[in-house]
Amino acid sequence: MFYSKILFTFAAYYLQPLTNDLRLNKIQLIQYRNYSSSVFEFSAPVTCITGPNGSGKTNLLDAVYYLCYTKSYFSAYQQNSVQMGLDGFRVTGKFVHGDELETISCKWKAAKKEVFKNEVAYEKFTDHIGRYSAVMIAPDDTELINGGSEPRRRWVDSILGQVDKEYLERLMQYQRILLQRNAWLKMQAFKANTDYSELDFYNARLSADAAYIYQKRVQFLIAFLPLLNEFYHRLSGGAETLEVTYNSDLSQKSMADWLQQGLEHDLRMQRTLRGIHKDDWEFALNGMMLKQFGSQGQKKSFLFALKLGQYAYLSKVLGHLPILLLDDIFEKLDQNRMEALLSIIRGDAFGQVILTDTHPERIKQAFGPEAEIGFIHL
Ligand SMILES: Nc1ncnc2c1ncn2[C@@H]1O[C@H](COP(=O)(O)OP(=O)(O)OP(=O)(O)O)[C@@H](O)[C@H]1O
Ligand SMILES: [Mg+2]
Repeated sequence: MFYSKILFTFAAYYLQPLTNDLRLNKIQLIQYRNYSSSVFEFSAPVTCITGPNGSGKTNLLDAVYYLCYTKSYFSAYQQNSVQMGLDGFRVTGKFVHGDELETISCKWKAAKKEVFKNEVAYEKFTDHIGRYSAVMIAPDDTELINGGSEPRRRWVDSILGQVDKEYLERLMQYQRILLQRNAWLKMQAFKANTDYSELDFYNARLSADAAYIYQKRVQFLIAFLPLLNEFYHRLSGGAETLEVTYNSDLSQKSMADWLQQGLEHDLRMQRTLRGIHKDDWEFALNGMMLKQFGSQGQKKSFLFALKLGQYAYLSKVLGHLPILLLDDIFEKLDQNRMEALLSIIRGDAFGQVILTDTHPERIKQAFGPEAEIGFIHL
């Protein structure tokens, strides 16, 4: 009882409106996907990109995401974003960030990336992360619920990496050292004598980083759960009890202990078997695992709630309203969920919205005659 009261106070705190807005006014795409050279303006709070299938709606949305995170949302291979047959692209965006006008430009050429703010190149891309935030909701995101642990870890990391630079740096270091430790484990199979000094170094680094990351993931869930709860129930209208369980080896013992006590096993398997790189989150409704027992509708509401919760969490911690990117979602939502989603994103706790749809009429109708919507017809 006391616990739930704290949680809901937390939710109210997180959902307070913010005035420090982030707006993308204009974007230029050169040799990006199907765009040779195009400029688009976003003059209204809500912009709807329309056009037939294959006309480049998702690509344009992805270019906005690229400006915010210097990577594509949809493809892990940067080269895929280059227009077929060419060797580079450039995407430039004009942002308004509070009172500042800022130009961000991402250039990819001959497999090398450069990012510029007001024409000055960033030395480290991590300096960019967290200042231009966006949340994408796309139909293929079902991986977050139906997939293995990796997409959920990536998702949590993408949130925490934006709000906490130390988290991002430690995570990158952890991943680097984990590879080195695994290479060391593999090498031992071919060696007569084992040199443990290298291993001690890896273990010490991994233990320190894992402890930090674990603690931040624990704290994240405490802050995030009330937001998820609130959005799930607003979207679904359901009364289910929602649970998220964070499963981590580190809840049983420290990373240092795992590394030390599990060495024999690690050597046999030639990789590091325990650690925060195995963490996962389990979603449940009324005590039943969502992945195995949830209905399509419950999963859909849960997915949207995860993303809207992400939005609310980021906006509070970063102090600005991220750009909300919605790919093709009105196609997939029933009337009730669509109305619930619209009432949420039209509130003060949400800023600029850019969405795609094949039918402009559907969007006009959904948002109502008063809504200020800009259209980009491809
Ligand atoms: N690297 C690339 N170079 C050139 N063209 C590309 C590249 N990648 C994708 N395309 C083209 O972009 C188009 C797909 O664009 P996109 O996915 O943005 O369409 P869409 O308007 O979102 O379609 P849908 O309504 O079906 O979702 C396809 O015609 C595809 O061939
Ligand atoms: Mg599309």
